[in-house]
Amino acid sequence: MSSHRTRAVSRPPSASDLVSFHFKGEKGPAGVPESEFNGGRNAVCLLREGFRRTLHVGLGSRGRFGSDVLRQAAGVAARTLLRIGRERLAFDARSFASDAQAVVEGAWLASYKFEDFKAASARRQHALKSVEVWVGSRDLRTAADGARVGAEMAEATNLTRQVGNQPPNVMSPARLADEARRLARQLKLRCRVWDERALRREGFGGICAVGQGSANPPRLILLDMPAPNRNAPTVVVVGKAITFDTGGISIKPSDGMEKMKYDMAGGAAVLGAMRAIAQLKPSIPVTAIVPAVENMPGSRAQRPGDIVTTLSGKTVEILNTDAEGRLILCDAIEYARRLGCTHLVDAATLTGAIVVALGMINVGVFTNHEGFRSKVLEAARAEGEKMWPMPLDEEYKDLLKSAFADMANIGNRWGGAITAAMFLKEFADPVPWVHLDIAGTAWIEEAKPFLAKGPSGVGVRTFVRLVMGWE
Ligand code: BES
Ligand code: ZN
Ligand code: ZN
Repeated sequence: MSSHRTRAVSRPPSASDLVSFHFKGEKGPAGVPESEFNGGRNAVCLLREGFRRTLHVGLGSRGRFGSDVLRQAAGVAARTLLRIGRERLAFDARSFASDAQAVVEGAWLASYKFEDFKAASARRQHALKSVEVWVGSRDLRTAADGARVGAEMAEATNLTRQVGNQPPNVMSPARLADEARRLARQLKLRCRVWDERALRREGFGGICAVGQGSANPPRLILLDMPAPNRNAPTVVVVGKAITFDTGGISIKPSDGMEKMKYDMAGGAAVLGAMRAIAQLKPSIPVTAIVPAVENMPGSRAQRPGDIVTTLSGKTVEILNTDAEGRLILCDAIEYARRLGCTHLVDAATLTGAIVVALGMINVGVFTNHEGFRSKVLEAARAEGEKMWPMPLDEEYKDLLKSAFADMANIGNRWGGAITAAMFLKEFADPVPWVHLDIAGTAWIEEAKPFLAKGPSGVGVRTFVRLVMGWE
């Protein structure tokens, strides 16, 4: 586990390669001309100094510095050194002791790659074995705390990526429930799983409607982290886990459909976050709820025109079976309310429309409570997860009118991410609620110098920071 292989130290460890950070236009490594290394962002220069190697990494200009710059630079360093077979790294963080968390996160996040289905001969030969953060002796405590948090954050995020990388023939709803049970056993969390019969019996109409077209029946997963203070606010985090989204009868075009295995990214993020939460122990209770469903066009599948009675009692006319995320989430949200939660956050790869609006850079953030949203945005900013507030005016509600049921499951062509969020709001109100649409950000399309291609694990660090920082 990365937390066991991460340390803060107060003198340069001799068994490791050293990584040294440089700002652009400031003093660089001795004897290297500026034409070769000028400290530009993520630029690297490897020097052999006696028996030790030092990798110099650029941070760009000091004026634009933030902890995310350091996170990426640490990642670039880890990937560069792994490529040449170096597995033990020490970061010279004497000027960055308060950012030890970001350094550690960057290194462990960068070291992850999914190779479960590759022949042994094609797998990477080297894995990151240890990370040390070298700081001044007065900063040792601060850096040790930061390093521990960073290691747990990275471990949780990499777990989310590992779950998300499993192909959809492996990661069925039942398998995701097994992952949650395993996590609960390891971390001493309470876990409850509803199978399809229990879901039908207890009235989870939205989850059952989406799941009925698949031979892999749905599950509802609950993980619970109690806290000593029973009067504390109770946060519930909900994550959409469509293990594969074909669109159902409103089937998607085949081009690019293989990517719809990442439609469970929200659920995976919530499970990953619970790992770090169980280790770091916030003072408030936290519950994770994950509806896990496969959206298939089988002979029992729901049809456009069906009217579904959701757990809340509200009826929904299905106009498009590809708008399935909101149907499973509305039951999970209703259940969270019944648990008596005081704050609700969800993460979901909910709409293609959010990708149109914000591209693949920012998560779209929707809310019925601006104060709570500020808290979430602040946590996201501190963790280097880019998020952007989106509107949710009452006027959008008209677009969800149905002639025959309480609501329709889609709006019109425009503002699709907002009407989807509006649908969820109808179930969350009046509980303070924040919805993260991660459809554009949960998947990294092209490998970066500090991160592998595939699931990004977005949301994990924000969730953990949010509940850890609760006053
Ligand atoms: N899982 C998709 C959203 C999605 C799209 C995620 C692209 C990641 C990348 C969701 O279930 C969906 O299909 N939404 C529809 C809604 C529409 C039918 C109103 C969409 O966005 O097209
Ligand atoms: Zn869909
Ligand atoms: Zn979907």
